[in-house]
Amino acid sequence: MPKMNDKINQLLLLFKADADQVGTLDTLEEFRIKYLGSKGLLKDLFNELKTVPNESKRDSGQQVNALRIQLEEFYTEKKTALTPQENIKIGQDLTRPGQNITKGSHHPLSLVRDEIIDVFNRIGFEVSEGPEIEDDWHNFSALNFPKDHPARDMQDTFFIEKGDREIALRTHTSSVQVRVMENTRPPIRTISPGRVYRNEAISARAHCFFHQVEGLYIDKNVSFADLKQTLLHFAKAIFGDHAQIRLRPSYFPFTEPSAEVDVSCSICDAKGCNVCKYSGWLEILGCGMVDPAVLEASGIDSSVYSGFAFGMGVERIAQLKFKVNDLRLYSENDLRFLKQF
Ligand code: PHE
Repeated sequence: MPKMNDKINQLLLLFKADADQVGTLDTLEEFRIKYLGSKGLLKDLFNELKTVPNESKRDSGQQVNALRIQLEEFYTEKKTALTPQENIKIGQDLTRPGQNITKGSHHPLSLVRDEIIDVFNRIGFEVSEGPEIEDDWHNFSALNFPKDHPARDMQDTFFIEKGDREIALRTHTSSVQVRVMENTRPPIRTISPGRVYRNEAISARAHCFFHQVEGLYIDKNVSFADLKQTLLHFAKAIFGDHAQIRLRPSYFPFTEPSAEVDVSCSICDAKGCNVCKYSGWLEILGCGMVDPAVLEASGIDSSVYSGFAFGMGVERIAQLKFKVNDLRLYSENDLRFLKQF
């Protein structure tokens, strides 16, 4: 019995001496192995217990157990004190691999719109924006559409209130350019990107809304040659250096003369394919010299200033760039489609 008592006291002294040495997780681990490990000193004591005579077994057992509790408490206390705080938050495992973040992508129409804007920005055009709900003046009258003129039917309009033809969803962003002309003095160089609405049945080739970028340049001595050169520059920037354009006479109420512009087919290299209907040319925009009546309606002196305007559909340019033929794909938000850009 005294023999056992001595051994317990010895271990207690040894522990007191060693405890002061534990200052890191590594030394704590050494401590654990030495005292609490499966071949540790505490285990030895428990083994010794078996040899203790029966009458003192109970006392010795209690003493060894008390020592065990003391050692274990010391160990867990130290462990908590020495472990960095962020590692012991419940349920957190900092070694787990992170979750994948799926990145979104830009919509193809945004990509093309930004590219168009960029081309014109670099030659001095500023971006202007305006409301999608427009009044008759900005969408039609100021642009030289006489009331009840059949030209208004060219753009099937969504009126906001039945019977009242004053307020409508804009049918083109030329309306924004009227606002710019009313509010700034020439020289004006502006492009107006935005969504426009037309009352058309939805199909692969038409939609009730689409996107435009329209341009306007007003200054002294602006000529048709300036217009043509600007559009050629644009076509080459978007479709590549080999791109050619041709202009066909056309009609718009707000421009005179007016033209429709074709670009050489980028799909077949102008050799003829089913997209360009074997003509080698694809229509991409409308343009013309701003009608003097339009300048005057916005308070710009048409005897001093002249200008050109053009307007294109972003979907149309995107169709040609990405070879996407069904317009509906652009607004269905099918991720299988959108992820490809
Ligand atoms: N506003 C016309 C349209 O939406 C396009 C256009 C703009 C044509 C400028 C000529 C000049 O169809």
